[in-house]
Amino acid sequence: MRNKIVAGNWKMNNDLAETEMFLVELKKQLFPENVVVMIAPSFTNLNHTFRSLREHPVMVVAQNMHQSNDGAFTGEISAKMLKSVGANTVILGHSERRAFFMEDNAILAEKVNTALENEMTVIFCIGEELEDRKKENHFQLIKTQLHEGLFHLSDSAWENIIIAYEPVWAIGTGETASPQQAQEMHQFIRKTIAENYSKTIADKVSILYGGSVKPDNASEIFAQEDVDGGLIGGASLNVESFMKIINSF
Ligand code: PGA
Repeated sequence: MRNKIVAGNWKMNNDLAETEMFLVELKKQLFPENVVVMIAPSFTNLNHTFRSLREHPVMVVAQNMHQSNDGAFTGEISAKMLKSVGANTVILGHSERRAFFMEDNAILAEKVNTALENEMTVIFCIGEELEDRKKENHFQLIKTQLHEGLFHLSDSAWENIIIAYEPVWAIGTGETASPQQAQEMHQFIRKTIAENYSKTIADKVSILYGGSVKPDNASEIFAQEDVDGGLIGGASLNVESFMKIINSF
C-alpha cells in the first residue's frame, strides 16, 4: 500500500511568532492514522518546528537545499545542516525554484543525488506551464523532467522518492486541475516509471498533486486512483483548512 501524504509547503511565509501560533493550534488537533502529515516551514523555523512537534505525528520538511555537501556557497544550506535540525525530507524542483532561481533538471539531479547520499527523502516536483498544455506538449515535458531529474537513479533509490505533480498554471492561481486531469497525468507518471524501472517500483511511489488544493476540492482529487495526497501551499497556512484537507481521504 502506498503512503497517503499531505504536505504543507509554507513557501516564504510565517516568521517565528507566526510559526509558533500555528504550532500551538496544530498540536491541539487529532490526526488520522492513515495519513502522513508534513509541514515545510522556512529554514529559520525548522529547528523550532521540529522541537515543538517531537511528540506529534507531523514530519518537518525543508523547502530546498544546496547540491554540495559544504563549501564556499554564501547563503546556502546543506543536507547535513537540514538533518541536524530534524528535517530528513526535502522538497526539490518546486516550480518557483525552477522559474525564479534558475534550477534546471541538471542541477536538480545533483540535488537529488546529494539528498539521497545523505539518507534523506526527496519530494520531487514536476509540472508543466500553461503554454505546454495549450500546445499539448505536457506529457512530453513531464517525461523529460522525470528522465533528466530522476531516471539516473538505482532501483533502490526509489524507496526515498515522492513525486509531486504540480501544473504551474494551477499554483497559487485558484485554478485547479480537474480530478480527471490530475488522474490522467498521475497515471502517465506511474506508467513512465514502470516502463523505465518496473511496475513494482512504480506501484510503490507516492505521487502527490499540488496546485490550489483547498478543503472544498481535496476529496475529489484525493479519490483518484493514482493520486496519493497533496502538496499544499496557500491552504496549509491556516490550521483549520490544512486539517480539512488532511481529513479529505
Ligand atoms: P498552492 O501551492 O496550493 O498555493 O497553489 C502549491 C505549491 O506550490 O506547492
